[in-house]
Formats: sequence, C-alpha cells, structure tokens
Amino acid sequence: MNKTTNKIRQDFLKFFKEKGHVIIPSSSLIPHNDSTLLFTNAGMNQFKEIFLGEKKSHHPRVATVQRCLRTGGKHNDLENVGYTSKHHTFFEMLGNFSFGDYFKQKAIEYAWELLTSKKWFEIPKNKLWVSVYKDDHETYKIWNNIIKIPSERIIRIGDKNNIQYNSENFWQMGDSGPCGPCTEIFYDYENKIIDNPLDFLENKNGRFVEIWNIVFIEFNRISNTKIISLKNKSIDTGMGLERISAVLQNVYSNYNIDIFQELIQNISKFSPLNNLNNVSLQVIADHIRSCVYIIADNITPSNEHRGYVLRRIIRRALRHGHKIGIKKNFFYKLVSSVIQIMGKTSDFLKEKQEKIEEILKIEEMQFSYTLDKGLKILNNEIKKINNNILSGKTAFYLYDTFGFPIDLTADVCREKNIKIDYTEYELSKEKQKKQSNINKKFHKNYNDKIIINNTCIFEGYKKNITKSLVKYIFVKNKSVENIKKNENGIIFLDKTAFYGESGGQIGDIGYLYSEKSSFMVENTKKYGKTIGHIGKLISGEITVNDSIYSQINEDYRHSIQLNHSATHLLHAALRKILGKNISQKGSLVTNKYLRFDFSYFRTIETSQIQKIENVINMNIRNNVKIETQELSLEEAKKKNAIALFDNQYSSIVRVVFINNFSIELCGGTHAKRTGDIGLFKIISQSSIASGTKRIEAVTGQKAIDYLHKTDNYIKDISLILNCNIFDIKEKTKKLTIIIKNLEEKIIQIQNKENTKNIKKLLKNITDIKGTKFLANIFYNYEHKLLRTIVDKLKEELKNVIIILINIKDNRFTVIVGVTKNLLNQITAIRIIDMITNETKGKGGGRDEIAEGGGVYTKKLPIILNNIKSWINKKLHKK
Ligand code: SER
Repeated sequence: MNKTTNKIRQDFLKFFKEKGHVIIPSSSLIPHNDSTLLFTNAGMNQFKEIFLGEKKSHHPRVATVQRCLRTGGKHNDLENVGYTSKHHTFFEMLGNFSFGDYFKQKAIEYAWELLTSKKWFEIPKNKLWVSVYKDDHETYKIWNNIIKIPSERIIRIGDKNNIQYNSENFWQMGDSGPCGPCTEIFYDYENKIIDNPLDFLENKNGRFVEIWNIVFIEFNRISNTKIISLKNKSIDTGMGLERISAVLQNVYSNYNIDIFQELIQNISKFSPLNNLNNVSLQVIADHIRSCVYIIADNITPSNEHRGYVLRRIIRRALRHGHKIGIKKNFFYKLVSSVIQIMGKTSDFLKEKQEKIEEILKIEEMQFSYTLDKGLKILNNEIKKINNNILSGKTAFYLYDTFGFPIDLTADVCREKNIKIDYTEYELSKEKQKKQSNINKKFHKNYNDKIIINNTCIFEGYKKNITKSLVKYIFVKNKSVENIKKNENGIIFLDKTAFYGESGGQIGDIGYLYSEKSSFMVENTKKYGKTIGHIGKLISGEITVNDSIYSQINEDYRHSIQLNHSATHLLHAALRKILGKNISQKGSLVTNKYLRFDFSYFRTIETSQIQKIENVINMNIRNNVKIETQELSLEEAKKKNAIALFDNQYSSIVRVVFINNFSIELCGGTHAKRTGDIGLFKIISQSSIASGTKRIEAVTGQKAIDYLHKTDNYIKDISLILNCNIFDIKEKTKKLTIIIKNLEEKIIQIQNKENTKNIKKLLKNITDIKGTKFLANIFYNYEHKLLRTIVDKLKEELKNVIIILINIKDNRFTVIVGVTKNLLNQITAIRIIDMITNETKGKGGGRDEIAEGGGVYTKKLPIILNNIKSWINKKLHKK
C-alpha cells in the first residue's frame, strides 16, 4: 500500500522530531517584515532574520511544512502550470533547518536516512542522483566517501554565463537576502544506467526529478554585485511534498497523486469531458488550491499587487473551465473539496470556507460576463493572424475592456503556437495612460452647463453593472444621435452603476459596452437629475436608444468607498476628540486619499492626532457593519444624524450608520464593514485659512504603503547614522553638537590663517595720493574669508581701497571694499562694474562693499593696473 500524501507529511515531521527538531507551524503566505517578497516562496522565508543573525532562534533545529506560492519574482511557476506535471503555483514544502547547529554532513545524512531507510521512505539507493555546486568539494566528498554514492551519480553544476553563483546549485531567496551553495537530490524515473553525465544535464523527457534541495546558507546577498559572508553557517532544506508523494506513490505526474486525483475527480463533475488527464483539469486543480490559501491569508482580488496575482490566477482557471465546456459558475464550489483533501494541517481553512467561497463567487460572476465576449474576439483575431503573432493592441484591448490579464491571453495563444507582441502591448498601455491624462485635463473644462430633461436612476449602491438604455449623447457640447470611434463625449443613460461626482466623492471610471462597441468612462458627473458618463469611444459606435452595459471599475470604486467610510469615521472622531463644535467645511473622497476641512480655532496637538487615529482604527478593528437607511428628515434629526444643515435636503434622506459612533446624512457609496478599511493613517494636518483646518489621510493598502515608506526612510537614516532606529534622536543630537564644535574650530583655524594673510598683505599696500590701496590675487582661497579680510583691513586702515580676487576652478570671484570717507569720489560698486564689464562677468553690492565673478581670464592683472590708474585720476590729493 502506497503512503498517502497526508502520511508522508506526518512521517517527515515525525522523523525530524526524533532527530531533535522542534516542529514549527507554517507561516502565512504573506511574508511579514519582508517587503522584498510578494508571497512566501520557500520554507526558509520565515527564518530570514535568524539566518542573517538579526534575530535569535529559540531552537537551534526546527522542521516545518510550509505553504508556498511561486507566482512572481525569482521563483515563478505560474506559466509552467498546465505545461509540466511537476510545477505548481501553490505547493507545500517540507523543510528541516539548522541555525548555526549541524551543517553539511548531518544535513546530508538526515536526508539520506529519511529517503532510503527501511523504517521511512525506502527509496532504492540506486534511484537517487545528486548534484553539487562546482567548487563545493567538501559536499562532493560527503556524498562520495561517507554516503558512498558512486561518482558517476554526483554531478557538479557550474555557473551560467560565467557569473559567479549564477547557478542551479546556488540557492537565493530573491534579489537579496540569505543564500548559499546547495546540493540537490534527484529521483531517476528510469532504470537505465547511463554513463555519460551529460545526459543528466540534458534531462530529456524529464527523467530526473529534483526532490530535495539542501542549502548551505553562508552568505547574505546585498545587491546583484555584492554578497557578504554570514557569521553563522546554517542549513535550509526544502522538499516539495507533491513531488515526493509522486515518487512514493509510484506515479510520474504530481497531478496523479492521491490528493490531486480526488480534487480532479470533483472538478470533472462540472465538465462534460470524461478524460481525467485533461490538462485544464490540472490547471484548475492547481489554481483553486492557490486561491483558497491566498484568500485565507486575507487577500482579495484587485487590480494591483497581491490582489492582482490572485485575480490573474482565478481568471486563468475560469478560462480553462470555459475551455472544457463548463457552463455554470463552478470555481467557488471547489473550495470544500480543497479543504477536504488538504488534511489536518489545513484545518484552519474550515472557518474561512464561507468567506473564501463568497469572494470567489463574486469574482467568478463578474468575470463570466466578459470572459465569453473577450474569448470570441480573441478567437476571431487569432483566425486572422498569418505570422503567428497576436498584435499587442488586441492584447491590450482585451485587458482593458474585458479584464483579460496578459497571461490569460498568452495562455490561449500558446496553445495555438502564437506569440504576443509584448512591445506593442506595453506601448498601447502607455499610450492609453497618456491619453487618459490628456482627457482628464480636457474633461476639467467640460461644459457642465448641459441641461437635459432626463432622470437617471443610480443603481450603483448595490450593483457594479447594469443593463441600460442610451438616452442622450453629447459630442463637443452638442446633442448628437451617435458617437464614433475616438470621439470624446458625454453619454446619458436611463440607469447606471456609475456614481456622479457629488458630496465630495469623485465620479467613477469604467466602461459602457455592448456586443459592438466600447466607451471608456473617465469620469462621471451630475447634471441636474441625471449623470453624465464622460469619456471616449474606443471601438464601434453608440447610438441613442442602444442597449448597453454600464460597468464600473470595481477596484477604483472600492478604494473610494473605503475612503468615504473612513471620512465618516474621521468626522465622528474629530467631534469626539476636539469637541462637538467643529463643523465640516468641505471634503474630498478619492480612490487615493481623503481630505477633510473643518472649522477649529486652536492648534491640533500631535497627541490629539494620535488619539483621533486610535479611535478610528479601533472602530476599524471592531469590524462593524456599515448600514444605510432612508428616513424622514425629522427622524434623521431625532437620531442626531450629522448633516450640513445649511444644505437643502429632500424630505426623505439617506442616513449612513456606523454603529452609534457615526450617524451621518450621505448619498455616497460605502464599505460594507469598517474592517474593510484595514488601516487609517493621517498623512498631513494643516491650516488653510484662519480657523479652518485640513486633514489628509489614507486607508487600506495605501496606508500600509505610506507606513512602509516612512519606515524605510527611517531605516535608511539609521543606516547612514549607523545606529538603531530608536537611537536616531540621540545620535542626531550628538552629531549636531559635534558639528557645532567643528565649525567653531574651523573658524578659529581660519581666523589664524587670515591674521597671517593680513600681515602679508599689509606689505603689499601702496599709496595713491595719500589713500592706501591694496589689490591682490589669491589662488584656491575660500571666498568667504576674503570678506573677513576686507572688513578687518577697512577697520584697521580707515582710509583704504581694497580689491581681492580669488581664482578657483577656472573661475574668479572678486570683492571690493572702499572706506566711507572716499565714497564721494570712488565706490566699490563702480570698481566691480569696471571689472565685470571687462571680463563679461556679473556682480553687485553696495557703495562700501561689492562682489562679483566670472570666467577666469589672463587679463585680470592688466585690469587691476588700469583700475589703479583710474583711481589715481579720480582721487583728490589729501
Ligand atoms: N530554500 C530552498 C528551496 O526553496 C530549500 O528549502 O529550494
């Protein structure tokens, strides 16, 4: 009887427990304290700081079963899924770790014992091959002399492109972080003995499968050119659970192991296909596991960052569902099956099942609208292709209009041996971004005086998409029957999912589209009782009375909603902390940040700002429902709802409740629960007029980004100052004192220097008609010091004209001083003018002292002589 995957997982941990290892739970898929990684991609991630010596481990040897995701960065297998039977986006990694405890020999002996001994995995020794890093003779000897692997089955792997450590047998977590040479153990899926080690390197038909990687962590990679040795040498090993299960269950493909077979059976129930080896089933099986675990770690689908990785995986899976003829929503129904196969270690998923299903269901419902249409367009385009290259414009159109991630389009194309013109794709993306900025500027001036007799029902409180009727079209501010490709215009509908900018909340973006056309909405504004969809027609033609879908960009709206609910919390918190007398003067709620203006006459202290943030974040953590009710104005007043009562309200008003903490009249759109806001952070506080204060704040991922930014900033400063972040203040104080002392010392030295120079200069003084005259050229002197010399000499000599020139870096500067008694005959500014005129330089100043400068010229001594003669003429005899 083969071992089940669950048993293999347990045995691995049992083995290492017997060898004195402490079993540590898997960490989250979202790496903590590590902005260099999008997702956890190896068992060692959670120990990064320990490897680097920044943190001490409570245990010198530990073992884990780590959930991992390889969908980006240095380790990316997304595109391999569906094309190999050995890769996954999500997988479990079995790992044992030693932190400065055992090293190479023990790590190898443990791995060998677990894999080959009768008590454990019992793999025949002659089925195993190993690779070592080319220069790692010590490891070679351990395998050869101690473990007794014949030398023909130990392969040395070198560097690629002659770049040091750029090797399959030098493991690196990412572009930076712990790394080191490694030795890998391979399972040979054929019995043939081969003599030529090159066959191993070629690995035709994937005969040799890497099952275990043992990394000797010895270095820290700082950048792509810098690597430093670590004080403690450690061990990091990783064995893919799915791969070792395939070996122990006598199957080649990971997708044929027990857990995948069960999952694939369940998926196939939704499809008319009978072939369980169909690749699309494997892709879906792989992708549903990723999605379940990513959502369990609190990521939701979106258009950026981790949320977009999730969205891409979901959409790729849905496309494969479509390919094998699944007609109904199915993806979310697989969650229970994943929880079932993953066994005890994933028990934590059970309580999250409902939430995961709900998130997947919504995403699936929304995408199925556009998947079908987009695929039709793509297939039509593919039929027309004659050079095996899909135009980047089409790929971009599918992305922009139908939400096709580029890898989904690439996946479809790859099946038909077609490549995408990625350069054109990027150019189209860039062009659209620019165009959209131009359009935005254009829309700012857009005529909002259009008056039309139309009422548009806003359905966007509950729906992100509506089926609507086109009522009016305006192009260049004129009502027209239709709008053509590339024309800018405003479209008015009978109902819409788009929110018309009002009450501080900005408008939405998205698309109006039908089978034959697509209009990109860049903003929406209110025009009386109707809403104008402002934008540009990007394909087809739209005519009055056309039936059309209005679909907002959900991520954009979602971010706006978080900021809107956060604005209500801020308003309530201000009243609580600063007093009920504050009154709202204005607000702006965008997808990026929120701004709130209010009257308050005193200074807001830092401690008050922190209290405000605390109150708001506490409400966020309480995750209360945000509810709306339509009430009569009277009822709303009775409930103490906050309103701008100088505004005109209708007799029935919409009231937004966040528990009893915030009750406010509002027509805007809001988050479902306060927890959705995630985090609230004030980023600026200012006074915009007497008695009017302004607060700007960010929420959700933007708030986290802001904290990361400031955190990195502080860390950079601490690196520059070479101290702990909490010592920055003290260290800066000390440095300020040191700088002050140094400045004083420099002044002392300069003064001494100057005194010497003045003594020398006194010897050069000549007499012109009873007035003292000094002209001197210095080389590479500090210009500042010349001024001191001029001041001193004027004070000492009382009746003097001084011209000091300094030549430095092919330029000259000049300072001229004239004592008061001479000003009716000669001024410093006059002399500066003479010098700068002759040298095409610049200058300025007062009668008594003036300065100038320009490009160095050999003429300077002659100019000085000429000035001397001029002075001679000008001065009256004493
Ligand atoms: N970190 C190594 C890997 O991921 C060994 O665990 O392959």
